[in-house]
Amino acid sequence: MARIFITGSADGLGQLAAKALIAQGHEVVLHARNEKRRQDALQKVPGAAEVVIGDLSSIDETKQLAAKVNDLGNFDAVIHNAGVYIAPAEEIFNVNTLAPYVLTCLIQTPKRLIYLSSGMHLQGRSKLESFTTDISRITYSDSKLHVLMLCKAVARRWPQVYANAVDPGWVPTKMGGRGAPDDLQKGYETQVWLAVSNDHKAKVSGRYFHHRKEDRHNPEADDVQLQERLLSLCKEITGVSFRAGVTS
Ligand SMILES: NC(=O)c1ccc[n+]([C@@H]2O[C@H](COP(=O)([O-])OP(=O)(O)OC[C@H]3O[C@@H](n4cnc5c(N)ncnc54)[C@H](OP(=O)(O)O)[C@@H]3O)[C@@H](O)[C@H]2O)c1
Repeated sequence: MARIFITGSADGLGQLAAKALIAQGHEVVLHARNEKRRQDALQKVPGAAEVVIGDLSSIDETKQLAAKVNDLGNFDAVIHNAGVYIAPAEEIFNVNTLAPYVLTCLIQTPKRLIYLSSGMHLQGRSKLESFTTDISRITYSDSKLHVLMLCKAVARRWPQVYANAVDPGWVPTKMGGRGAPDDLQKGYETQVWLAVSNDHKAKVSGRYFHHRKEDRHNPEADDVQLQERLLSLCKEITGVSFRAGVTS
């Protein structure tokens, strides 16, 4: 049995991944933005061990969330799933770019880290110069490139963990919309597989997966200088340092 923490698991792919992991006998801690969503999550995922609260659009609440997660002990895997699509640029930046950075740095390092990116990251640009000058230029696609860059930086800096990113496809969740054409089940299976499988294909690091297979990604994500600049800007903005990731 593994212990897994999933951000943004009151709904959508996070909730579905939680249900699948619980059905496999794993212990899953959920995350919701507030008390109302905590109650919703508990109702929809009755087998969950706990639901922690934190609004990821606030850097301070995200830091507090990491402390609450650490109070629950160590995790084998963390799935950085929460995300927003139609939202003001600052919210996209805080939830999609900064929150995974802050939680990666502050949560006791698990053995496996999974980051939800998107096929839309292919159209994204890092736009690192905008981080401290004009956040309004950051789009959803850019933020999903940032999270892939973060994943690759983590994989490079922390060789003792498996850190991988996932494009779930365009699937019919609240974010994807009812008409989304891709398979909903395939949309969460890869995260579940990366979190717990002993398949040697899942025990890799720094890769970008779509439906359990490595997929083409934006080469900007492989640029080590850009990755390092991303880490240092995230540190400057949040006050949180990227530490040596020692797993327990
Ligand atoms: N659906 C797609 O077609 C698609 C495609 C590519 C990538 N993705 C990625 O897959 C991940 C999951 O997406 P999804 O389709 O499951 O979306 P979703 O149904 O909208 O669920 C997103 C989850 O994130 C939570 N969340 C958003 N903002 C938050 C905040 N400020 N604080 C705390 N929690 C917050 C939401 O909470 P509430 O329920 O309370 O709003 C929800 O639980 C995202 O990272 C997304 O970018 C999705």
